[in-house]
Amino acid sequence: MKITFNDALFAVSMDELRGHAALGEAAFQTAVQKNGRGNDFLGWIDLPAEISDDDMKSVEACASAMAAQSDVVVVIGIGGSYLGARAVIEALQHSFRPMLPQQKPTILYAGNSMSEDYLHDLLDVLDKKDYSLVVISKSGTTTEPALAFRILKQHCEQKYGLDNARKRIVAVTDRARGALKTLATEEGYPTFVIPDDVGGRYSVLTPVGLLPIAAAGFSVRKLVEGAVAMRQRLLDAPHFDDNPAIQYALIRYMLYNQGLKLEMMTSFEPKLFYFIEWFKQLFGESEGKDHKGIFPAGAIFSTDLHSLGQYIQEGTRQLFETVLTVENAHYKVAIPADEKNTDGLNYLQHRSINEINHIAQQGTCMAHVDGGVPNIQVVIPEINEFYLGELIYFFEMSCAISGYMLEVNPFDQPGVEAYKRNMFKLLGKPGF
Ligand code: PA5
Repeated sequence: MKITFNDALFAVSMDELRGHAALGEAAFQTAVQKNGRGNDFLGWIDLPAEISDDDMKSVEACASAMAAQSDVVVVIGIGGSYLGARAVIEALQHSFRPMLPQQKPTILYAGNSMSEDYLHDLLDVLDKKDYSLVVISKSGTTTEPALAFRILKQHCEQKYGLDNARKRIVAVTDRARGALKTLATEEGYPTFVIPDDVGGRYSVLTPVGLLPIAAAGFSVRKLVEGAVAMRQRLLDAPHFDDNPAIQYALIRYMLYNQGLKLEMMTSFEPKLFYFIEWFKQLFGESEGKDHKGIFPAGAIFSTDLHSLGQYIQEGTRQLFETVLTVENAHYKVAIPADEKNTDGLNYLQHRSINEINHIAQQGTCMAHVDGGVPNIQVVIPEINEFYLGELIYFFEMSCAISGYMLEVNPFDQPGVEAYKRNMFKLLGKPGF
């Protein structure tokens, strides 16, 4: 993975960046020396290097048992207990996996909304398919996944009987606390622990992410290998010039201080849609505090060039772009010859679709830079487990640095409680 920011230097010069390097470097040290705010939630820093072979084996064994008995695995969770797994699975899987019955199990998701129609439709599918459930909640008390789990648990018990249902349900939760932990103990579900010192949005490399990713058939070892490599690279490079996480966090910070309050994370690869969703949650919940923070938005190009593209080019000047660039495609799709050339596309015939996609990206970057939108690129050679692992660790570290530069606690989310309190009061929950 590499970061390039030449197309942002018209807005913030290299001299200005170097002039403020100490700020980014100090924030990095605050994270790695674990002496800043929220330092009881810094377990993710060393976590990838500490995952043992036994940890991996138990995740892989549970995942393959689930996969063997299931057409569908339903991952029940919200926020950090869901987005990391989905980001990796959707990036790696066949774009039309549910249409390919040989590629089972299909991973479906629940507990991230309270849409009654969604749950109905999911139950409709589960009536007809063999399935397992992975219920994930660190607190074990979040309403959305708890409600979905109550419904799906009952469906599972009715379909398979109590004893067999218990072999189809796995819980991922806190070591000791919360309703889900109590329920899992009572029912005897296989249970994986989310470490105390890892918060939800930093938990993708714990069983929260690893179990669903392994159930989908992907190599969690390679994912973790990528994270370990990035960890080493960052820890070995305490200075701005060599540390891409300090560079990225510092550029964002300088652009923010110039009034660019919105970061548009984009990609020309639709498989990264959910990776961008994961990024939005990571940065949004970590930075958006004390009336500070960059608003993280996302877009997939070319799709959104034909909707948001106009705004990016000519709307209010308040944003910069970070493009997740994938250098190589895995497959080739030939552009067929056409003697008549009615569509006028013969000039493209000897180029690859991937090359054309990259030229679209180049043209877009030039246009947006002309429109005054600084452009940063985070580049990976291809989408695979290793590079996704690198990206995950890179963004986690960048986010911690960024939060410390903004002088907020990047590891809490007090604002999320406000809607819950109102909802409980409106619902008449005892005690509210
Ligand atoms: O990042 C976070 O901490 C949150 O987004 C949580 O992951 C989310 O609120 C779900 O919480 P829980 O796992 O306790 O159900």
